[in-house]
Amino acid sequence: MTQKSASVAETTAAKAAQRCILPECGAVYGIRERIYVCPKCGGPLEVDCHVSEIRDSGELRRKWESRGTSPEPRDISGVWRYRELLPFDESAAFVTLFEGNTPIYDAPRSATYCGLDALRLKHQGCNPTGSFKDTGMCVAVTQALVVGARTVVCASTGNTAASLAAYAARAGLQPAILLPRGQITAAKLAQSMDYGALVCEIDGNFDDCMRLIQELGENPSIYVANSINPFRIEGQKTVAFEMMSQCNWQVPDHVVVPGGNMGNSSALGKGFEELRALGLIDRLPKLSVIQAEGASPLARLFASLPPAKVSAEPSLPETLKFEEHPRTLATAIKIGAPVSWKKALRAVLRSGGKIISVSEQEIADAKAMIGRDGIGCEPASATTVAGIKKLVAAGHIRQGESVIAVLTGHVLKDPDYVSAYHRGTLALDGGKGAPAEPLRIAGAFRNAPQHVEPSKSAILKMLEQKR
Ligand code: F0G
Repeated sequence: MTQKSASVAETTAAKAAQRCILPECGAVYGIRERIYVCPKCGGPLEVDCHVSEIRDSGELRRKWESRGTSPEPRDISGVWRYRELLPFDESAAFVTLFEGNTPIYDAPRSATYCGLDALRLKHQGCNPTGSFKDTGMCVAVTQALVVGARTVVCASTGNTAASLAAYAARAGLQPAILLPRGQITAAKLAQSMDYGALVCEIDGNFDDCMRLIQELGENPSIYVANSINPFRIEGQKTVAFEMMSQCNWQVPDHVVVPGGNMGNSSALGKGFEELRALGLIDRLPKLSVIQAEGASPLARLFASLPPAKVSAEPSLPETLKFEEHPRTLATAIKIGAPVSWKKALRAVLRSGGKIISVSEQEIADAKAMIGRDGIGCEPASATTVAGIKKLVAAGHIRQGESVIAVLTGHVLKDPDYVSAYHRGTLALDGGKGAPAEPLRIAGAFRNAPQHVEPSKSAILKMLEQKR
């Protein structure tokens, strides 16, 4: 649905700019310029909405919260509700599928599993296409309309593709997606086909697709909607606003997210920093990012850094050693060359969080535990609970601290994985740069279907045994 917005003087586009995040460059560009990295130095760009110029943040907070009961589409959307901090003016034809408004659940079994008194899970899998990507995609596709693009493209491990396909279809633009052939779950691929995207399957991995996308973006009719695009990050930062509103503006001690291409962690970091600049929160939660062991270039870099003091302008390494052959069953985060690593690393260092990795076994068991809480998620999302367990054991998170993990995708995004885990057949095959023997995952919380005689007594006996 695209909507012409009402005549509310909430314009930020006139003031907003795009800026290179590297302190040694800091070049500034217009908000309508179709650029994805700094044309001067190649550094990452971010949108600057001049948050510090907003005078009355208390009034802003009341306005946001009053929109929760409004029937206006822009108010119903959990992203456009925060439009004062988004770089559009009132005439923008904004695109929405009523994204956001995702729940925060208490997860008592997962908490005990991690060694915590309590744990909350914010489930971004409850978005319209089943993943967190929707909060950024509604903004990126709106910007595609602003700059007059005809085609919106992305490289994807599946979720960005499904989200782009849906939002581009709503906006009347052509969706085109580049996927690593044979490495996308059937459910995600099915979504993209159903929303009418041109699906291009590439012999290569996600990182190869990403390189191609950056070349395609040079064409004037094509708009790139990967998280390298700073407008995607603007949408995704609103998750921090919604989270704080749901927490009655009480900052949790820790927020933990999975890490793949590193857009999500960059966006949450930016969101919390803007809330602090506005005075709506008085400190940042420690932001930690969890990668899968076989696709963990940033966790390896983080482990090699000298212990750093929390600082507003942390010094960032020049380069990241990429993982040439990423391997993990959490296909959503099977990424060896994350494009937003500098932004994510900056956000983590500014907040005092950590970047670590977890094994396939740890991901699989944590995922099953999230299921036992009646919540469920896709494998990549479960890196959070696996990572929290490790961070508690390491003393970085204390038992009584408040922790929110962000689940990024719905459990039905990868039913083959779930089924294989519970039937005891889950295994990570060899592949380039891997041992020939597959890695077998012995699920600690297996729950395979039982073959039972069709009689009441047999079923009651089975229930008794399983009690
Ligand atoms: N969780 C899920 C379910 C994802 O789909 C992704 C990324 C991530 C976590 C990692 O987030 O990239 O912002 O660090 N999926 C992308 C895609 C790469 O193409 O769908 P990130």
